[in-house]
Amino acid sequence: MVRYILTGPPPIAAADDNFNKEGAVEMKDIIVLKGQIVYAESPERLAVRPDACLVAEGGKVSGVYDILPDAYAGVHVEDCGDRLIVPGFNDLHVHAPQFPNRGLGMDRELLPWLNAYTFPEEAKFGDEGYAKRVYGRFVRELWRVGTMRAAVFATIHAPSARVLADLMEAAGLGGYVGKVNMDRNSPDTLIEPTAASLAETVRFVESFGSGAERVRPILTPRFVPTCTEELMRGLGWLAEERKLPVQSHLSENEGEIAWVRELHPESRDYASVYDAFGLFGQTPTVMAHCVHVTDDEIALMKRRGVYVAHCPISNLNLSSGIAPVRRFLEEGVSVGLGSDVSGGHRLSIMDTMASAVECSKMRWKYVDGRAPLTTAEVFYCATKGGGSFFGRVGSFESGYALDCLVIDDTRLKDEVRRSLEERLERFIYLGDDREIVARYVDGALLPEPKVP
Ligand code: GUN
Ligand code: FE
Repeated sequence: MVRYILTGPPPIAAADDNFNKEGAVEMKDIIVLKGQIVYAESPERLAVRPDACLVAEGGKVSGVYDILPDAYAGVHVEDCGDRLIVPGFNDLHVHAPQFPNRGLGMDRELLPWLNAYTFPEEAKFGDEGYAKRVYGRFVRELWRVGTMRAAVFATIHAPSARVLADLMEAAGLGGYVGKVNMDRNSPDTLIEPTAASLAETVRFVESFGSGAERVRPILTPRFVPTCTEELMRGLGWLAEERKLPVQSHLSENEGEIAWVRELHPESRDYASVYDAFGLFGQTPTVMAHCVHVTDDEIALMKRRGVYVAHCPISNLNLSSGIAPVRRFLEEGVSVGLGSDVSGGHRLSIMDTMASAVECSKMRWKYVDGRAPLTTAEVFYCATKGGGSFFGRVGSFESGYALDCLVIDDTRLKDEVRRSLEERLERFIYLGDDREIVARYVDGALLPEPKVP
């Protein structure tokens, strides 16, 4: 069965949009990258454009052309030759302070893992010097693996969350950083009085300017078990008042869901707890995992436009299960991918894509018979699917931010001449950061970040 459609060139007249009133093109701020361009417009629609020119003005894509329109004559063309040009990857769920814990505690399930490994590590981030060192390495690694935007959990400590936002901004990466909120069922080292948790959140939010930073704040109640009703009510109010997005965890693991049921017998389900406090799509919201969501919860996610951050590597490591991603896509629920470091041991969204396909095959065969995901579909989730949480990000359609990766896959080539779709697939499965030779965000070429 053909699961995706290849698109042809757009009408050449599209270039007219880029002329100013006098009919002349402003040469400054124009970028032209020529190469083997592949991007996903939808889960079913992969655009494959060999030897084409990707044009951006002021950091935004103005078009992809087989032949560069005359209007751009004289503009420098960055010729990437046979290299692939793809959108930057987006990580919709990752815990920066858990970076040092990757590959540890993989014999536990979620709740014992949190207590034994995660909370003791996160407690160290009261020390800003420690935060600076760890977050510096985390940000460099995001850059290295081609993750250009991310929705990131920090810890309860507002000053070190600020350090993280500054390091991401300085590196030219985009996304959201959340100061985590926890005021119950947590170790003494990580628990906050409710009022202080809210006050520190306001302080963190107000540490951002009102303008054009690429890294912005996001409200981050850790998950229902660690947040009192008073705290969730306060955060919901703040979300509404300041128009702030929200990120949290939802229906990840059976032990966790049973605990939420015990804590909130009045609630129909897990999602309804967040919803009762204005934390479920009243403002842009992303929920990580959603492995065991019910029909009612899916209907509510749809109604409210809540995003799923699908974290397949973590869901395997912590024995959480396999999320019903095919169903999410069929129902029109927005899906991005999350590394969920360090529940996930790999930061790379390429590894996450491969895992998403593998997991979907197990679900298809042994759970619900719904078709497994294709590589093109998970590529969509890793780019435009998750990217849309950050704005017009993750595609090369006109008006999108020019976030892209230039890929030299020479190391992966063999005797057989491959199509661009096949080369993309092999890059996802076999490649790593060695293949990524350039990274752009909003049209700016990003150098390797220096670790403080
Ligand atoms: N649920 C609450 N906190 C966490 C966390 O740090 N990681 C994961 N995977 N799930 C959580
Ligand atoms: Fe998580």
